[in-house]
Amino acid sequence: MPKILACLLLFFGLAPMAHAQSSNTDFYHATKVFRLDGGDVSYVFGVNARGELQQMYWGGRLAASDTFPTARPKPEWSSFDSSYTTTPQEYAGWGSGLYVEPALKITFADGNRDLVLHYDSHKPAQDGFDVVLKDIERAIFVTLHYQMDPESGILARSATIENRGNELVTVEQAAAAAWALPPAHYTLNYLTGRWGGEWSLTQEPIHPGARVIESRRGSTSHQANPWLAIQAGDTDENHGEVWFGALAWSGSWRIVVEQDQLDAVRITGGFNPFDFGYVLHPGESLESPVFYGGYSAHGLGGASRLLHRFELEHILPRTAKTEGRSPKLRPVIYNSWEATQFNVNEAGQIALAEKAAALGVDRFVMDDGWFGQRKNDHAGLGDWYVNLEKFPHRLKPLIDKVHSLGMDFGLWVEPEMVNPDSDLYRKHPDWVLNFPGRPRSEQRNQLVLNLARQDVRDYVFGFLDKLLTENEISFFKWDYNRNWSEPGWDQLPPNEQKRVYVAFVRNLYGILAELRQKHPNVEIESCSGGGGRVDLGILRYVDEVWPSDNTDPFDRLTQQDGFTYAYTPQIMMAWVTDSPHWLNKRSTSLGYRMLSSMQGSLGIGADITKWTPEETALAKRLIAEYHQVQATIVQGDLYRLISPRDGSEFSATQTVNADKSQSVVFVFIHSTQEGRGFPRLKLQGLDPSAQYAIAPIEGKARGDTPPQASGAWWMNHGLDMDMDFRGDFQAAAFRLDRK
Ligand code: GLA
Repeated sequence: MPKILACLLLFFGLAPMAHAQSSNTDFYHATKVFRLDGGDVSYVFGVNARGELQQMYWGGRLAASDTFPTARPKPEWSSFDSSYTTTPQEYAGWGSGLYVEPALKITFADGNRDLVLHYDSHKPAQDGFDVVLKDIERAIFVTLHYQMDPESGILARSATIENRGNELVTVEQAAAAAWALPPAHYTLNYLTGRWGGEWSLTQEPIHPGARVIESRRGSTSHQANPWLAIQAGDTDENHGEVWFGALAWSGSWRIVVEQDQLDAVRITGGFNPFDFGYVLHPGESLESPVFYGGYSAHGLGGASRLLHRFELEHILPRTAKTEGRSPKLRPVIYNSWEATQFNVNEAGQIALAEKAAALGVDRFVMDDGWFGQRKNDHAGLGDWYVNLEKFPHRLKPLIDKVHSLGMDFGLWVEPEMVNPDSDLYRKHPDWVLNFPGRPRSEQRNQLVLNLARQDVRDYVFGFLDKLLTENEISFFKWDYNRNWSEPGWDQLPPNEQKRVYVAFVRNLYGILAELRQKHPNVEIESCSGGGGRVDLGILRYVDEVWPSDNTDPFDRLTQQDGFTYAYTPQIMMAWVTDSPHWLNKRSTSLGYRMLSSMQGSLGIGADITKWTPEETALAKRLIAEYHQVQATIVQGDLYRLISPRDGSEFSATQTVNADKSQSVVFVFIHSTQEGRGFPRLKLQGLDPSAQYAIAPIEGKARGDTPPQASGAWWMNHGLDMDMDFRGDFQAAAFRLDRK
């Protein structure tokens, strides 16, 4: 778990601390409020007169002297809406007439399905505290974990559900947390997409009823990402109140945003209850994922800047090589996929590596095609031995060559998958997710190995460990190229097979953690046919992600815009590939492609053996420029100055580093119309009284732009582009350095 410190205040009105231990009658008549403060945020909840845990406040930070009276349950609105359903509970069991989304739903062995959770006890826990709830009659205990980051005010919430009874129970629905907002006009933001088209920011008013954002696919999905932001009133990119959340889970998940019958809003997220059923034997417990929630008074931009910093400092792993609080900057990579597809071999990869090194690339990554009988996507997955036709001397000569060129070496793997045409499947046809006797649906000619099985877990860890032990591999691109079907686990009794939804993901995390522990210098990218597995769960174990298989530099502008609402540019890998682009057949200049990718962690994925000397020289110069300002771009504060969304003619981003000594600005023209030039750009986030010198990275500012001016000048007057900066798919970039 990330190391965060919570600032916790407990107010006990009438009840002294000692009375908080048991659920006696006296206690329920006492004032009892829990409060967390961090950054600019306060979060307050309390035990109401019935003994339920009730949310009381989530928003801008309150004065330390502010106190709250006992939480008062909402009244019964009518005979149709009991107080149990109108009261915003921190974690409501399905029972007692609850009509809103429950946090927990359980079926007991005797058929009882009524669950009512009341406060039982609480205790300080590492960096926060735990509050224990218990069913009013049965031995179901739920420990709610609260940890607040003192800097960002981002609150980590999760739940442990424990069966202390004598009979098994089935958990049919388990959230990590439920959050509540009072009645108001809100706009919901979330990220949707598809393969090749991830990261669309979808914005809509919150209406009565429920909006369900989810994946039923066994993994995070391209279709929707477990992040959301809720704006109040007229909030925009820079102003107004925003509540945001991100669920740390890489399996099937669901977030329900619900405006209830009294216009209040609740956000409930956790395991997807669809096809869920987790049997808890006596003494067993189930741990939910973590649902992070945050608040900003500075619009969607403010919210994403908080989240980026939190991810950098508390979520992403730091390798042994890392110093300081932020993860190591990503090496500029070369990846062979778009240049060679499956046709990898020793001579071809060495030719690419030589060109890549000459460009100033730091890491050479060989993609799919190097193993088993992998000539195309019909065979070979599962057989993780080197293909000796392609690499007669195995990987060593290529790796040695890459090292001698001053780069480190990375390799593509897809550990959780198998082609039916493979030695592994012929030997272990029972290792895949399946229902015996039913068809096994293939996607991309492959099946999903059941990673929940111990033998599969051992196999996957074993071959990855062997690859790392026998070869000097610094990096895995860890791919995952299909979603689940027929998710059976026939080793278990029928009523327990749905455990696979949890056990698979936990084993994935376990393998990643174990590999990193045993090979502390290895770095890993989460890829799933592009951005199909990006979430705060997997980000605890990987260093970067592949946002999309779509590398079209214009499409990437919108994708990167959407991506950065939820995730830091540090992890946003962005390759420069060939033009015309294979997906849209669009032609763009190399300068435009480079600048589009330089807004994230830069990579090159083109067939660089075909580049002209001019193209090679341009890329080399821009990679060198990028290296100088990379930290500001990927770990600084990001301001989306002009969004490329909705067919905007223009777009621009700006980043400012932590001590405000450097800023980098990227500007893009989609297609100018009627001769309109680029609008004057008012920069943000600079120190108004400091002097900043401007220097072009690529392109020109207008002739009368001062070479140096105050932060106030750049922010109030703004930056003008050169008069000739017009046309289609144009780009420019500038750096500002404090003098
Ligand atoms: C997925 C990845 C690509 C590439 C191919 C290889 O689609 O997203 O980048 O690695 O697999 O088969």
